[in-house]
Parts: sequence; C-alpha cells; structure tokens
Amino acid sequence: MFIPQFDTPIMLFCMKIPSAIMLWIVPLLLIPLCPANSNNSSNKNSQHGSCGYSPCFCAPGIPGIPGSPGPAGPAGTSGSPGNNGLEGPMGPRGVKGDEGPRGKQGLTGPKGGTGSTGPAGPLGSKGDAGPPGSQGTSGPKGASGSFARNWKQCVYKHMNDGRDSGLIKECIFKKTSDSTSLRVYWSGQLCICNCDNCCKRWYFTFNGAECSAPAAIDAIVYMRYGTGSRLKNLHRPRHVEGVCDKIHKGTVRVGFWVGNCSGYGSADAVTGWISVSRMFVEEIPPPQA
Ligand SMILES: *[C@@H]1O[C@H](CO)[C@@H](O)[C@H](O)[C@H]1NC(C)=O
Ligand SMILES: *[C@@H]1O[C@H](CO)[C@@H](O)[C@H](O)[C@H]1NC(C)=O
Ligand SMILES: *[C@@H]1O[C@H](CO)[C@@H](O)[C@H](O)[C@H]1NC(C)=O
Repeated sequence: MFIPQFDTPIMLFCMKIPSAIMLWIVPLLLIPLCPANSNNSSNKNSQHGSCGYSPCFCAPGIPGIPGSPGPAGPAGTSGSPGNNGLEGPMGPRGVKGDEGPRGKQGLTGPKGGTGSTGPAGPLGSKGDAGPPGSQGTSGPKGASGSFARNWKQCVYKHMNDGRDSGLIKECIFKKTSDSTSLRVYWSGQLCICNCDNCCKRWYFTFNGAECSAPAAIDAIVYMRYGTGSRLKNLHRPRHVEGVCDKIHKGTVRVGFWVGNCSGYGSADAVTGWISVSRMFVEEIPPPQA
C-alpha cells in the first residue's frame, strides 16, 4: 500500500499560499492525517511535530530546511539471474580436430547387383577319363592290299600207321583272322587190304569237329575184291584236300582221321608207309561274295 509522504505537500502550501488561508487549510488537512500519523506510537520525535494519541489539534510548525542527501546505502543484494540473451553471431571456423576413433562395423548392406564377368581363370588340371564312346559307323572300304601268306606243313617220314579208326596225326596252326579260310591237304599212301566190298574214310577235323562251312573235307577208298585169289595190297599215293570257312582265329588243331564209310563196316586200313606223308595248312583270304 502506498503511504504518502507529507513533507512536500505541506512545504508547498506554506511557501506559496498566503498565511491567512493556510490557517484554515492546514488544520483541515491535518485532521484526517493525524490518525495515520499516530499509527506509529514511537514516532514522538518526528520533525513534523508530535501529536500523541490525543485528538490532533496541533498548530503547524514552520517547515524545516530540506536536509542534505544521506550517504549512499549499502549495496543491494544480487538480483535474480536475467533471461538468456539473444544468440550471438557465428564465431570463426575452428582448426580441424584430430581423427576420431574407428567406428563400429555397420550392418550388412543389401545385396549388390550382379557384377561384370571377370577375366578367364587359369587352365584347370586334366579331368578324369570319360566313359568309352559309342561305336562309330563303319568306315569306307579300304583299297585291296597284299595278303602275307600264313601256312604250315607237318611231315611224317616212314609212318606206317595200321589203325583202322581214330586220329592219325594232328598239326597245330595259328590263325590270324576270323574272316579268313583254311586250306588243308593230306598227301601220302592210304591203303585198304585183304577185303571184299570194303571201304574206309579219311577226313579232317578242326579243333575236334569236322568242317561244316561249307562241308566236310574227306575221301574214301573202296575195293570190290581183295581176298583169296584176288588178294590185293595196293599202296598208292592219295591226296585229300579242301577249304573250310568260319574257323575262329587263334590256335587251330587240324586233325587227320580214319574211320568207317557210311553204310560199311570196318576194314583193314593202313596210312603211310615207306615214304613221307604230309599235312599242309594255309590261311587264305575269304572267298568272293
Ligand atoms: C498502523 O500500524 C498498523 C500495524 O503496524 C498497520 O496495520 C496500519 O496499516 C497502520 N496505519 C497507518 C495509517 O499507517
Ligand atoms: C515508528 O516510528 C519510529 C521512528 O521513525 C520507527 O523507528 C518505528 O519502526 C516505527 N514503528 C512502526 C510500528 O511503524
Ligand atoms: C566201324 O565199324 C565197326 C564194325 O561195324 C564198328 O565196330 C566200329 O565201331 C565202327 N567205327 C566207328 C568209328 O564207327
């Protein structure tokens, strides 16, 4: 609440208003002011005069001379901090700081696009051998060449084999091709003796079997009369020859046998005597188509 000071108004009145009027005006002013002034009971030595607690009908004094300004009061306490001022202008650019520590590894980024094809790599090591390929088509027929002869003969001096049935001789031959044929012959004495209407057969075998391509290779000796007064013992040269096809290449046992003629019983047979008998074997090209 504002408490008015009464020094100045009173002083002004006293200085500019005629004293006759002042005599009336001042009491009127002081009357309502006194209760206020009397509020402070200890202010008995006020320069405005003491009124005490009794009804205030004091006569106004002469205003004093304004005093000189008092000494400077003690420094006031610090006020509360003011608000932040406005942001100042941007300062000059500082020098570059030191390099910071290496950052942590970031998350794996999205897969990139396909790169361009790189350069060809070095030559790899040789791979495993592949499986055999299928058989190719037959090539063209070659030119006719010369055929090296392949032959053999087995010779028997003074053989005098008296058996009437069975294997007489065997000659081992090496055949070089499946497509060739074998030409064979026997040359020597073949004889039947002391018999009538008798017959014996001499024949070849190949590995134990008679030829079937195209047919057996054989020969027979027959005699109508050869006993008693017609006794005969005829030793004559004979020749048995033939060609057999379709004999596998490799070792071939070529045999020469004696046996019965078809439809006849046995008879006395003699193979060889006091000359040389021979078995000849030769590998020859296949026959014409
Ligand atoms: C007188 O003093 C009392 C107590 O200090 C105060 O409440 C009151 O306002 C004062 N009156 C005047 C007129 O100054
Ligand atoms: C009354 O006046 C005296 C002198 O001016 C002063 O020291 C005192 O504090 C005052 N008391 C009150 C209650 O105003
Ligand atoms: C030849 O004929 C005789 C007399 O008939 C017989 O005993 C013999 O077994 C025959 N030989 C062969 C190989 O057939």
